[in-house]
Amino acid sequence: MADSNFVNEINKRRTFAIISHPDAGKTTITEKVLLFGNALQVAGTVKGKKSGQHAKSDWMEMEKERGISVTTSVMQFPYQDHLVNLLDTPGHEDFSEDTYRTLTAVDSCLMVIDSAKGVEARTIKLMEVTRLRDTPIITFMNKLDRDIRDPIELLDEVEEVLNIKCAPITWPIGMGKEFKGVYHLLRDETILYATGQGHTIQDSRIIKGLDNPELDDAIGSYADELRDMLELVQGASHEFDQDAFLAGELTPVFFGTALGNFGVDHMLDGLVKWAPKPQGRESDARFVGADETKFSGFVFKIQANMDPKHRDRIAFCRIVSGKYEKGMKMRHTRIGKDVRISDALTFLAGDRALLEEAYAGDIIGLHNHGSIQIGDTFSAGEDFRFTGIPNFAPELFKRIRLKDPLKMKQLQKGLIQLSEEGAVQVFRPLINNDLIVGAVGVLQFDVVVARLKAEYNVDAIYEHVNVATARWVSCDDARKLDEFRRKAEVNLALDGGDNLTYIAPTMVNLQLSQERYPDIVFHTTREH
Ligand code: G4P
Repeated sequence: MADSNFVNEINKRRTFAIISHPDAGKTTITEKVLLFGNALQVAGTVKGKKSGQHAKSDWMEMEKERGISVTTSVMQFPYQDHLVNLLDTPGHEDFSEDTYRTLTAVDSCLMVIDSAKGVEARTIKLMEVTRLRDTPIITFMNKLDRDIRDPIELLDEVEEVLNIKCAPITWPIGMGKEFKGVYHLLRDETILYATGQGHTIQDSRIIKGLDNPELDDAIGSYADELRDMLELVQGASHEFDQDAFLAGELTPVFFGTALGNFGVDHMLDGLVKWAPKPQGRESDARFVGADETKFSGFVFKIQANMDPKHRDRIAFCRIVSGKYEKGMKMRHTRIGKDVRISDALTFLAGDRALLEEAYAGDIIGLHNHGSIQIGDTFSAGEDFRFTGIPNFAPELFKRIRLKDPLKMKQLQKGLIQLSEEGAVQVFRPLINNDLIVGAVGVLQFDVVVARLKAEYNVDAIYEHVNVATARWVSCDDARKLDEFRRKAEVNLALDGGDNLTYIAPTMVNLQLSQERYPDIVFHTTREH
């Protein structure tokens, strides 16, 4: 039986990530959230100034960002009587695979929208990913200190484009230079906005009740406008409904400005109150509940550590059930070995710290010396593997070649390790010694060459290769798979994890093979 302290530790945790289009304000919100979590004295130190659009070969900038982001990959902080884990996702679209996998490790998401722009492309894509698990979504309409679009129109757009019902929790009063604050529909109070308080937490003035004459004194004619508006809003929008929220069908919506540090705390209040506590996960053997006392977890991300003082790779493991204790024994279920872990890391708002204990919902960092891959499961002894951590078929391919042919071993090792990290995918054709690199975004190619040089001392260059797409293949019938392997050998390769892959020179070729071998399944994603 779990004791009450154990249950309490799990119940008070909230693990979430932010999804947004670049420039909507993810970084700024992260800073303010940490400010409320008492994790930062003064907001503004999460990241240096970003370069906006990356030049394709802007490797130094990439490296800098990556170097910083390993420490901010996971941020844990207390808020009210809860413990919040915020998982960061890469800003650049070319690393979206990493983002998708990170989304498998959270229990809810905060969607940040630039209210001047509305729903943008990247947000649509990321929402599709959250839909795979019906992850509950909280929405923050940002940049109210600018001239924004009509709030009702924004909600309509979210409902129509993202197919999720909106329940406004706060409603904005004015916008841009005339932004006065928000009315909190559930608390029946107006919270007034004051400029110039973006870097600290300040008391804001609160006026109770909508008919309070103080409101007219404070915001003049906006008060009557608000009263009229609210009638309309309440008629036209949805009321908050906890079940619909948990099912991913309805999103509570908050308005504010991250830069002005206004509204972020309302959102956080909603998050700790409504967002789910740590949830269990499906495995290939059974569903594992978060409140089971035995430890289990899965690796959703591996990152090389750019800090020269710690030149190791960190595997990020989401604890699904139970509790991690320093020095405990875990079973690495893919290789069927027990390992003792005494140096797991926690990520207290940016600082790496050695960890004494952690609970379901938390992320721990395991030092990886090459035996851990994305998707690996750790348990307390039971043999199962968590499912649902995807690898996506790459869409871009290049052959990689050495400048110095004697370094073949290092090149292979480097590529396989980078593919274990999920930085890139590597394919080795069955019929020759080529090494083909596959990526989802172009920037990955540059990163791979730069890292091969920096970490493996290998000079590599790319050449064109005639590959249009790749599919992982499988077949229940071993005999048929064998036959396929023989007949289609010229198009087959092994990926970094030795999985059989069909490499198609054209989409038509792929289609023909699919018709010709109806018993073979061609997968666009591979589960780790
Ligand atoms: P991202 O991580 O989602 O890409 O966005 P980020 O927080 O970096 O914000 C993108 C830009 O939008 C930044 O301006 C940031 O200051 C600004 N911003 C964020 N929230 C608000 C807000 O509530 N109101 C206004 N007016 N601006 C906001 P930048 O000029 O690109 O960078 P910086 O010079 O401010 O650092």
